[in-house]
Amino acid sequence: MPTIRISPAERIRGGIEVPGDKSISQRAILIGSIAEGTTIAHNILIGEDCARAIDACRALGIEIEEVVTANNKKPKLAISGKGLQGLTKPARDLYLGNSGTSMRLAMGILAGQGFDTVLRGDASLSRRPMKRVALPLRMMGARITRAATAGDAGNRRTRSDLYPPLRIKGSYPLRAVRYTMPVASAQVKSAILLAGLYARGRTEIIEPIRSRDHTERMLRSFGLQVTVTKAGVSVESGRLKSPGNIRIPGDISSAAYFMVAALILKSSRVTVRNVGINPTRTGILTILRKMGADIQIKSHPMTGGRYEPVADITARSSRLRGVLIGPEIMPRLIDELPAIMVAAALARGVTVIRGASELRVKETDRIVSMSTNLRGMGADIELEGDTIVIRGVGELHGAYVKSFGDHRTAMSMAIAALAARGKTVIADTACIRKSYPGFEDDLRNLLC
Ligand code: S3P
Repeated sequence: MPTIRISPAERIRGGIEVPGDKSISQRAILIGSIAEGTTIAHNILIGEDCARAIDACRALGIEIEEVVTANNKKPKLAISGKGLQGLTKPARDLYLGNSGTSMRLAMGILAGQGFDTVLRGDASLSRRPMKRVALPLRMMGARITRAATAGDAGNRRTRSDLYPPLRIKGSYPLRAVRYTMPVASAQVKSAILLAGLYARGRTEIIEPIRSRDHTERMLRSFGLQVTVTKAGVSVESGRLKSPGNIRIPGDISSAAYFMVAALILKSSRVTVRNVGINPTRTGILTILRKMGADIQIKSHPMTGGRYEPVADITARSSRLRGVLIGPEIMPRLIDELPAIMVAAALARGVTVIRGASELRVKETDRIVSMSTNLRGMGADIELEGDTIVIRGVGELHGAYVKSFGDHRTAMSMAIAALAARGKTVIADTACIRKSYPGFEDDLRNLLC
């Protein structure tokens, strides 16, 4: 089992570019597949989740190739889309590994096909709730049920949600719906929007709090009209025409580790270049600044048909203080909370995180994984239901911690370890390949 060993660091300094955004990369693969024409996705993330999305689209009859050129510094993918009606019935079940985004978005697309598909995932994905996606898609006319597995016999009735493997019995055309989502979720919203492409009439979605809008932006860049109002977002079916090239910004979720590392270590300064700063994703910048962080943002011009804003972000050592993080900002920083918890553990005063229940249904229960690990390093963390209370301590100490099979827990603990006294071992770190295969090398390069 791969491990990462981290010794305390004096400082972290330098410039870095993190890999392409995971959410946007997966959307490029899926939306590119149902668009007309070839899409070249520049700076796409080459990680486990994207690999599973690519495999699934290939099994559905789409040609996807990595583009290799002599001066290829960043990964490029050519996706030969066949249009909305171009997918073909796969010869086998689709295996989506650990990727919740790929599974949920694929459900939306497969709901509108004239064939059945079975979607499977690894042990973690098979524990993630899917009723939230299945319910609206069923209202639209798809049949979504659990695909039987050997282990189902005894425990079927006790299960409170719907879990993979799933059988999607598609139907075309679907019925357009006006759906009010009980939980803000970009994956659920995206699944409904994509199903809306196969529906007759206007599909409208109302969210309690607006979640990341990468699907809306990408559909627009493929020529579709997407209407966003105060109440929600809506689409009607239409042709998706490839814009030719799409540029994927660096992932702010991956940049978060280096920002927090620079803030909590002395004499540090890190610039992360070419990071996506879509306002539905920048809650981490808002909160870190509220904590007293010295963070500068240099925006790039929105030229060349860009649909996602990009910036260079510089973070410098700062004296951080505890803050209140409320439910209203959750969707804008949900994936960065593990890194924020590390910053809070070392800040002066108390940080209270409220409304974080969605953290429990990520790749692992991140409230448990992060509080267990940080407590093991000497942090003071109390849990009251889904509220997390972190009292800053002056120093953490090295410990043996675990990833819990979760990439964000593993990388956040690596950052905590840099600021701790004594060595830390992080067990089971293969999961990092999901979103940032080169993380350990990139981190060590900044420590020189
Ligand atoms: C994602 C949305 C978020 C996020 C996940 C990726 C996406 O989940 O936590 O890592 O790509 O749409 P929600 O669907 O709960 O918003």
